[in-house]
Amino acid sequence: MTRRALITGPTAGIGNAFARELARRGYDLILVARDTERLEAIAAQLRSKHRVDVDVITADLTTVDGVARTVNAVTDTTSPVDLLVNNAGASLAGWFGTTDIADEDKQLDLLVRAPMHLMDAAIKVMAGRRGGQIINVSSVAAFTPRGAYSAHKAWLLNLSEWANIHYADVNISVMALCPGFVRTEFHQRGDMDTSGIPRWMWLNADKLVKTSLKDLDKGKSVSIPTIRYKVLSILARYLPKGVVTRAAKRGR
Ligand SMILES: NC(=O)c1ccc[n+]([C@@H]2O[C@H](COP(=O)([O-])OP(=O)(O)OC[C@H]3O[C@@H](n4cnc5c(N)ncnc54)[C@H](OP(=O)(O)O)[C@@H]3O)[C@@H](O)[C@H]2O)c1
Repeated sequence: MTRRALITGPTAGIGNAFARELARRGYDLILVARDTERLEAIAAQLRSKHRVDVDVITADLTTVDGVARTVNAVTDTTSPVDLLVNNAGASLAGWFGTTDIADEDKQLDLLVRAPMHLMDAAIKVMAGRRGGQIINVSSVAAFTPRGAYSAHKAWLLNLSEWANIHYADVNISVMALCPGFVRTEFHQRGDMDTSGIPRWMWLNADKLVKTSLKDLDKGKSVSIPTIRYKVLSILARYLPKGVVTRAAKRGR
């Protein structure tokens, strides 16, 4: 039977890599982002290349309406979602305490409220069907105190780890994907200077997605790509917070 995945943020970067890989594997897709033109172009490309059904939803996930329309797609019992990928995200240009609080509200909506509502809806319908998979795109930033962005990603990581254990008896897998630096539009959109980031720290979105789907099928609650980031995240978890915070101070 054909499986269906809903992906938020498929118009660029990691979400786009998920859309291409899942279409290649024969998944029908529901793609959610703000840019209709880009959504339609990607949908047309995937339909013709992989012969899969692709629906698009133009939605701003910082809005109540945008989240509600996406939740409706998750709970639509006529076309059930087998895999939810909570991926859409962005970063603010500035540290918490220097930014506009209205922008921080939007960040909280995008990085916490939207995935929370979508995960809630998915778990409820998947529990009824006794099966499903959820990937929440967090970050290695979740392991370090680095402002509001890392706090939001830590929230998503923590909830995913718990949900993966709690809903195992109804066959629902929930996994937090915690990438390091990935070459996408993310840093440019967030007006971040990446010139100081060494080449070895950069990850490729296509490889990242393939590894994460393997980890999901193994039932892992956390997927950290590459040995180097696994080591860094262990250090970040167990070194004194003062050391980690000072080391991480330069990046966002
Ligand atoms: N790149 C990295 O180094 C890195 C590292 C760790 C974690 N992450 C996480 O990975 C995820 C994907 O990031 P990326 O690097 O692939 O970024 P990206 O290339 O900038 O893509 C972001 C995607 O999110 C969508 N999006 C942004 N704001 C949205 C909104 N308000 N409503 C709906 N969709 C929205 C964008 O589409 P539209 O503009 O069309 O809406 C786009 O498709 C994010 O959660 C990010 O925090 C990234």
